Amino acid sequence: MRVLVTGGAGFIGGNFVQYMVDKYPDYTVCNLDKLTYAGDLTKHQSIEAKENYSFVQADVADRESIMALFEKEQFDYVIHFAAESHVDRSIEDPEIFIKTNVQGTQVLLDASKTFGINKFVHVSTDEVYGELTFDCKTFFTEETPLQPNSPYSASKASSDMLVRAYHETYNLPVNITRCSNNYGPYHFPEKLIPLTISRVLNEEKVPVYGEGDNIRDWLHVYDHCTAIDLVMHEGRVGEVYNVGGHNERTNLEVVKTIINSLNKSEELIEFVKDRLGHDKRYAIDPTKLEKLGWKPKYNFDTGINQTIQWYIANKDWWKQIISGEYQKYFDHQY
Ligand code: NAD
Ligand code: DAU
Repeated sequence: MRVLVTGGAGFIGGNFVQYMVDKYPDYTVCNLDKLTYAGDLTKHQSIEAKENYSFVQADVADRESIMALFEKEQFDYVIHFAAESHVDRSIEDPEIFIKTNVQGTQVLLDASKTFGINKFVHVSTDEVYGELTFDCKTFFTEETPLQPNSPYSASKASSDMLVRAYHETYNLPVNITRCSNNYGPYHFPEKLIPLTISRVLNEEKVPVYGEGDNIRDWLHVYDHCTAIDLVMHEGRVGEVYNVGGHNERTNLEVVKTIINSLNKSEELIEFVKDRLGHDKRYAIDPTKLEKLGWKPKYNFDTGINQTIQWYIANKDWWKQIISGEYQKYFDHQY
């Protein structure tokens, strides 16, 4: 099988590329990535010499390059992760989110339709459903109406609609997965968990938006990879699958867990102005995926401790990131 993974130099795509290369030595895995600020290939040093792995630097919205690649490689599967992924950046400047997330997805769908594929898996997010209330009794199911609130989630919802339309109109074999917040190795330090770990390790203040009472539903990236593997091979064509492991935490709980685990002072917490349009709560009902056979390996307590240890052992990786362009972005935020 010939598998195209887009966004394989990023956090989740990067973990998925390594998972696939190791698990399926008979498959070829082509990692296509533009290498934006969020893309980094050093994470693939252990697999780059393997025969079943290759890398192509390209923009998913560049029709000519994408068409030429599909014609040459005749992919069986397209697993589409590439996206602008950070909500705060989308609030500041939505333009690139539309180009990459919407137009880029359309180009990949066109290429898949033109050259034929077994399956197009579109990796989407629970944020397309909007927000839930704090009552903790309701969950996002695959039937929940889409009500995206940020430019990021609106761009992802738009791409979901295009994927759906290419299935309905052209019979393209697709699945859409909608996952909750991921955490784990190689998570870019602009996101809450790696930002907190890296700043606490550096004895720096951790910015918590509003009162820190917003709730996210955390899933270890490994469990997201096993979910996509399952959907890619067993998912019913045309269906949507939610991915989540029932690990709801307030942001303040997450930050305090990390601080306490590192034996540092909670005085490092700094409450800052809230995110515009900040979604209150996300929580996934994963019943449909569980019925397909998926079971997560990590609960939050085990996963977060393993992740903290990973960040301690891999300081070179995140220090090289936060010392560059990223520092300017972070300083500009506050
Ligand atoms: P990320 O920002 O870490 O990585 C994105 C990758 O896409 C980077 O390697 C970047 O270089 C690449 N990319 C960006 N624009 C591109 C373009 N125009 N052409 C080619 N490559 C491009 O993101 P992530 O957190 O790994 O998220 C991956 C996917 O999973 C996204 O589609 C996101 O919406 C979705 N998702 C993320 C989460 C999460 O918690 N991080 C949860 C659910 C769904
Ligand atoms: O739910 C899935 C989504 O999770 C993905 O689709 C997105 O790509 C991914 O970025 C993530 O979005 P969030 O906005 O939920 O993640 P983030 O890590 O940016 O923020 C998590 C929560 O923490 C959110 O309520 C905002 C808050 N936060 C975030 C940062 C960066 C803070 O309080 N302080 C911070 O400095």
